[in-house]
Amino acid sequence: MTEPRVLRVAEVVDETADARTIVFDADFPYAPGQFLTLRIPSDQCGSVARCYSLSSSPHQGGLPGITVKRTVDGYASNWVCDNVRAGSTIEVLPPSGIFTPKSLDADLLLFAGGSGITPILSILRSALCAGSGRIVLFYANRDESSVIFAAALRALAAANPERLTVFHWLESVQGLPTVAQLTELARPFATFDAFTCGPAPFMKAVTEALKSLGLPRERRHLERFASLGANPFELVAKVTDPDAGSAVVELELDGTRHTLDWPVETKLLDLLLDKGLAAPYSCREGACSACAYRLVSGEVKLLNNEVLDKDDLDEGIRLACQSLPVSEKVEISYE
Ligand SMILES: Cc1cc2nc3c(=O)[nH]c(=O)nc-3n(C[C@H](O)[C@H](O)[C@H](O)COP(=O)(O)OP(=O)(O)OC[C@H]3O[C@@H](n4cnc5c(N)ncnc54)[C@H](O)[C@@H]3O)c2cc1C
Ligand code: FES
Repeated sequence: MTEPRVLRVAEVVDETADARTIVFDADFPYAPGQFLTLRIPSDQCGSVARCYSLSSSPHQGGLPGITVKRTVDGYASNWVCDNVRAGSTIEVLPPSGIFTPKSLDADLLLFAGGSGITPILSILRSALCAGSGRIVLFYANRDESSVIFAAALRALAAANPERLTVFHWLESVQGLPTVAQLTELARPFATFDAFTCGPAPFMKAVTEALKSLGLPRERRHLERFASLGANPFELVAKVTDPDAGSAVVELELDGTRHTLDWPVETKLLDLLLDKGLAAPYSCREGACSACAYRLVSGEVKLLNNEVLDKDDLDEGIRLACQSLPVSEKVEISYE
């Protein structure tokens, strides 16, 4: 699936009082941990776009599904939970995101807070089904009634006692987990690959704990949940006049090598979409990392970056939707 597509809903499952799984009657490839961008109708502005991670596993053979938790006073999450039924149709962008293990055989240390369990569960289910490593899940929630997938996790842990360990943490009982507590919990698993998704303060505390244990950047993966400001369904690729100057970009996408003239005032993603290439994207505003690529050589500048940190930038990760060329020649890779 490389183009926006309208999906039919097969089933809606109540997970908790304020979270529902939307199962799609569809078959498309995706990687564990990836998300879909949904077009939500709005009588104020036509539509808004929101990202929702797939909670299903592409390795289990079932239908794909997302899990949406109501945000207090949030527009889209409440619209989905109130209006979507079996038989509804929803327009989505292709699955995207880089929050996915390189190898499902790796030992995985997973941290989820609240609805952050969604991509984490997809990774966990996939690793149990198609991988061979050990999996440790630390899952923090406000209270017992807000634990999404409690029964599914109980069943998975009972069926895989040698491979899966789940630690639940309830703020109503234990308070918010501190950096010191997270560090002690993670210490025995400091050689594992870590994946974290949850509220910003939770992710910050986990990151500090993992850094204190010496986990290098390439073994610390984060997924940030945020609402999109722009609407990628309504944006069109804008390619500026090459007479103002052009660089040359070399890239490999889906196994094919391309060399393109890159007008200096055109964003890289706009150039690729204008050329008909299926480059990944979601927000198109520097906020989600779906369009991330690696800069192999040359220099680019980012117009806006709300998602990559210094470690990412030092590793050469850049955002195609916000990149303008600086050097005359740029080589990039989509991994
Ligand atoms: C990569 C990624 C993955 C994610 N995965 C998940 C997931 O798996 N599960 C999950 O629950 N969340 C997930 N999220 C978060 C999700 O995308 C939303 O941010 C969240 O659901 C809150 O959106 P909301 O519209 O309900 O709330 P808000 O963003 O708070 O919406 C309120 C906004 O809507 C506007 N608004 C109000 N009424 C209208 C109207 N009638 N028309 C238009 N606008 C209106 C208001 O002005 C306000 O700005 C993910 C986010 C990202 C980036
Ligand atoms: S598409 Fe979201 S950061 Fe580029």
